[in-house]
Amino acid sequence: MSVPIVPEALGSRTFRQQHQVKYAYVAGAMAKGVASPELVIRMGRARLLSYYGSGGQRLEVIAAAITRIRTELQPDQPYGVNLLHNLLMPELEERTVDLLLQQEVREIEAAAYIHPTPALVRYRVNGLYRDAQGAVIAPNRVLGKASRPEVAQQFLAPPPAEIVAALRATGCITAAEAELASCIPLADDLCAEADSGGHTDRAVAYALIPTFLRLRDRAQAEYRYLQPPRIGGAGGLGTPESIAAAFMLGCEFVLTGSINQCTVEAGTSAAVKELLAAADIQDTDLCPAGDMFEIGAKVQVLKKGVLFPVRANKLYEIYRRYDTLEQLDSATRRLLEEKYFERSCEAVWAETRDYYAQAAPAELERAERAPKQKLAMILRWYFVRANRLALSGDPAGRVDYQIHCGPAMGAFNQWVRDTPLADWRNRHVDDIAERLMREAAALLNARLAALQTASQELTS
Ligand SMILES: Cc1cc2nc3c(=O)[nH]c(=O)nc-3n(C[C@H](O)[C@H](O)[C@H](O)COP(=O)(O)O)c2cc1C
Repeated sequence: MSVPIVPEALGSRTFRQQHQVKYAYVAGAMAKGVASPELVIRMGRARLLSYYGSGGQRLEVIAAAITRIRTELQPDQPYGVNLLHNLLMPELEERTVDLLLQQEVREIEAAAYIHPTPALVRYRVNGLYRDAQGAVIAPNRVLGKASRPEVAQQFLAPPPAEIVAALRATGCITAAEAELASCIPLADDLCAEADSGGHTDRAVAYALIPTFLRLRDRAQAEYRYLQPPRIGGAGGLGTPESIAAAFMLGCEFVLTGSINQCTVEAGTSAAVKELLAAADIQDTDLCPAGDMFEIGAKVQVLKKGVLFPVRANKLYEIYRRYDTLEQLDSATRRLLEEKYFERSCEAVWAETRDYYAQAAPAELERAERAPKQKLAMILRWYFVRANRLALSGDPAGRVDYQIHCGPAMGAFNQWVRDTPLADWRNRHVDDIAERLMREAAALLNARLAALQTASQELTS
């Protein structure tokens, strides 16, 4: 091989150009500001894209984070914000989009979608125009994340015509924007998310990524976009080997998650980072997701050193078995109140009711009428508490820490063992990206050179 592979060459050139980044490498959002303003600023200054973890944050907090990021970064330095589909509170998604448009946030990472929503389409279509050459330009860029082909197809297709028409009819978008919507895909970039930390369908990257590439090729053949959507990979990436493999599979960018939670910049407690830095690849487990408890959605969390996954599974079992709070037998109720909640079920309900009265009164009304729903809300309170305990690092509540994490964390820890990065205090998001990309390029050079030598021996 005459010219060595350089890290800048990995992935798609248009990805690097469009996002104005050094590498086709992204740090994905982590809810509750774990992907903090500090993390996003540090990445942006290194000319690397990352997304602020707006999930579960109040609008004022998101607004303050965006302002801070924009103040600290130069106008040409990249940053984005997460937009999560909200099954229970669609209104929150709408208000988040209002904020993103008002603050002129140009990059979003759209996740947890089953179908495109009016809020997501409104963001994407807003500001569409034709340039002097007649090309349709979308100022608002969307990186979609999906684990299933039927969701992927919707990100690869233009925004649904019926949603566009409804937005036009209510005056949310202009006639020109509505007309141009059919010329672009819903997402510029689509990330195939395999088995990952946090919410996961546990897809296998080797099966998922080639499938998404084929879906993209078919979508491109059908819609003939000026710029075909790019396919990236996420889930399990935490070593140079896995990054190299993702690019060899055809990924046009890579996205990491779990490994960034164990860095100086991550917005979580030192206690959580200590636990993460000690994790190995088998130290994670699946358990029910607190925010989508009733539909049986799963999250991958750290299991080493905590009881959270065991307790979360037990809560789900209780939800399946009982229809009302009053049906709980005394032993179960005692277990909940003494061990899980550390307060009475009534106190939990009072707090839950206050929250929903503010955030989603319709949900509260539904629960007041449906006792099973009320039970779910009480049980779900534990997940909120477990999150708070982890974020604050309260030593008394350590067994209950809810820490979203996938096996990439353990693989990363193995990679940096016996180096200064074994200590999380030496881990910085941009430096990790730099090392991973450089070493992935070096690995590819070594592998390809070895294959060429072997081929020469066989053919000469
Ligand atoms: C602690 C944590 C919180 C996460 N929160 C979000 C989130 O709020 N929104 C989102 O789109 N993805 C979220 N993710 C997923 C990541 O953005 C990323 O897609 C995923 O972690 C990649 O897989 P990996 O963990 O195997 O690297 C989270 C992941 C972790 C580890």
